Amino acid sequence: MRGFEFPASRVPDPADAPSLRWGIAGPGWIGERFAESLSRHGSQRVTAVGSRSLARAEEFAAPRGLRAHGSYGELAADPEVDVVYVATPHTAHVEVALTALEAGKHVLVEKPLGLSAREAERIAEAARARGLFAAEALWTAFLPSYDVVRQLVRGGRLGELTAVVGDYGEYLPPSHRAHEPALAGGPLLDLGIYLLALATDLLGEPDRILGLGAPLANGVNGQLSALLGFPGGAQATLTTTMLGFTPAQLTVVGTEAALTLDGPFNSPGGLTVTTADGATHRWEGTPGSHVDGLHFQAAAAARAIAAGRLEVDERPLEMSVRALRVADELRRQTGIVYPGE
Ligand SMILES: NC(=O)c1ccc[n+]([C@@H]2O[C@H](COP(=O)([O-])OP(=O)(O)OC[C@H]3O[C@@H](n4cnc5c(N)ncnc54)[C@H](OP(=O)(O)O)[C@@H]3O)[C@@H](O)[C@H]2O)c1
Repeated sequence: MRGFEFPASRVPDPADAPSLRWGIAGPGWIGERFAESLSRHGSQRVTAVGSRSLARAEEFAAPRGLRAHGSYGELAADPEVDVVYVATPHTAHVEVALTALEAGKHVLVEKPLGLSAREAERIAEAARARGLFAAEALWTAFLPSYDVVRQLVRGGRLGELTAVVGDYGEYLPPSHRAHEPALAGGPLLDLGIYLLALATDLLGEPDRILGLGAPLANGVNGQLSALLGFPGGAQATLTTTMLGFTPAQLTVVGTEAALTLDGPFNSPGGLTVTTADGATHRWEGTPGSHVDGLHFQAAAAARAIAAGRLEVDERPLEMSVRALRVADELRRQTGIVYPGE
């Protein structure tokens, strides 16, 4: 068996990033994990939280020593906040992000950037028009393991890419907001967006899109599969479901080697390269949770903001829009309609 040399991750130490003051919009599940990740790792400081209810903001703020605001507008106006992390449900991303931008705040917006490509473009246009930073918090794109993937792919180490094969399923109980039509429920924007983001990051913009969806009794999509064809012949085969757990792996296939990210592929972890001779080679990354990984995107945003850059290389706004263009087309084919459409 011949050896396979892995590149070192180029992700800088998050503790060296300029320390910015963060305001969390939405004291929910991911907001809690973001606050904990920043308190444990790196140099970023959460200073404030905003909610639609002052009582909920205070409940989140008190144990963490944060300033509490009873509206997203008040959070955006807080002079002790440099950048707003938008952690509301998908349906509120565009409104909360635009409110922050209008108040002169930079934004890091949870995935997906908007409900649709058009909503994502509105955020991008507003940020550019005001000379402010905006990015989608697609945390996977900022992890050290994904930087290794990027280098292997862009350095031609897998040969010419021929396919991406990925699955992402979780059991999301009926009480989860993903079952709620009014919150743009379904696995597409919670789970499937990772598959679309990475497939279109690695293979580009597809010129053929085929979707197969399955609605639940309340009309919300329960599972969705997609076949994407790319100029040059590469294909992506992707499936997402909120009806049960799947291995959540992502494999990138090239003419000389294939690479599989350990599941769940969107989290910190290792990866395996299988070369054309069938030999396997490991890049070991410590498996980790959101708390172990969310701070990388905050550090990258802080570096960009401090340097006067309006975007991050790891997740340029056009890439977020591109993934949502594919999501839009899949929804058109499978009859998934979101609030306000
Ligand atoms: N990066 C990741 O791995 C990851 C993981 C999970 C979720 N996410 C993303 O993060 C976002 C939030 O997800 P979550 O699971 O944290 O949701 P969640 O637990 O329901 O929390 C969302 C928060 O947003 C606020 N909110 C604002 N407008 C709302 C509205 N119209 N309806 C309901 N709540 C509203 C709520 O606070 P108030 O009611 O107090 O205003 C709530 O605390 C989603 O876009 C999701 O895609 C990312």
